[in-house]
Amino acid sequence: MSKNYLFLLAITLLINLNDASLLRRAKNRTMSAKPYKVLISHPEVPQSAIELLKESCELVQVTSLPPNRAEVLEKIRGVDGLFWGGHSPLNAEVLDAAGPKLKSISTMSAGIDYVDLAEVKRRKIPLGHTPTVLDPAVADIAVGLLIAAGRRFHEGRKKIDSNNWENYHLNWLLGQDVRDSVVGFFGFGGIGQAIAKRLSGFDIDHVLYTTRRRINKELEQELNAKKVEFDELLAKSDFIVIAAPLTEQTRGVFNTTAFNKMKQTAVLVNIARGAIINQNDLYNALKTNRIFSAGLDVMDPEPLPANDKLLTLDNIVVLPHIGSATNRTRSDMATIAAHNVLRGLAGERMLSPAY
Ligand code: DGY
Repeated sequence: MSKNYLFLLAITLLINLNDASLLRRAKNRTMSAKPYKVLISHPEVPQSAIELLKESCELVQVTSLPPNRAEVLEKIRGVDGLFWGGHSPLNAEVLDAAGPKLKSISTMSAGIDYVDLAEVKRRKIPLGHTPTVLDPAVADIAVGLLIAAGRRFHEGRKKIDSNNWENYHLNWLLGQDVRDSVVGFFGFGGIGQAIAKRLSGFDIDHVLYTTRRRINKELEQELNAKKVEFDELLAKSDFIVIAAPLTEQTRGVFNTTAFNKMKQTAVLVNIARGAIINQNDLYNALKTNRIFSAGLDVMDPEPLPANDKLLTLDNIVVLPHIGSATNRTRSDMATIAAHNVLRGLAGERMLSPAY
């Protein structure tokens, strides 16, 4: 049994034990069987989370799909807890509509760039999110994109579709080797580290990373990783993976200036947030072969319009933000978000507080 599996097993046991006592306490605290009212802001939240919340809460669920803002604002009135599914703005408008009883919120996502965090903090409402549990699924997608972009999957598919199978050329559709490559990470938290761990099985040479804080030495050794300045990361990496949150500091940092410092053979992968890349500059860099290719799971905006010029390029592989989209991962994210909400309601520390 792997260390990770044992860790997850222990966490699950702990959650269940804690949850039972949390529910008992919540029930004892009041004569009513369902002391709390919770809004589920999306009709497709996994059933596991609904069942969990239903035990001690009266649930109100948005039924429109995609969730209609007016329905959310109508149904949220007077709730104690909020389970926020999806990435629509969670801002003062929503909090005002909920009113003063709101004391616990959880998103069902790792990234919370669509939450007005300052506003949530100002109102002192505990906010949870669901990082960590999606690291393996997002890391798998990143590795997929890295290979797909490095080995020209999209261009190859187009050749087949257009009846241009030109393998009489000896150098047809040549791509970039992962073997012996330097992989640079812009952001090196749980997701970045999970990607690096997977890539060690592909015999890469070493890892470079740019973060605010250095990771611990043992982990650096295990992942053969070295912290460097941004410019060094750009200049030395064969593959660059963006795995950082979107903040005012990271917005648009991958722009023409950055692309001009990258190797011409470099492959850029983004599984974080689209706006970390200046997409117009990326288009130019790919169009002029200033860099080799890109693999994106995230774009700006999302959904990306079907007529976006990025989609006219051969040297890009795009996915519609499906990093965490596996049955198990989404179900685990929902369960953690439900526990976050319950804990917030009980005045306890959330499983994964966002601040
Ligand atoms: C997240 O949770 O932030 C991922 O991008 C999936 O939505």
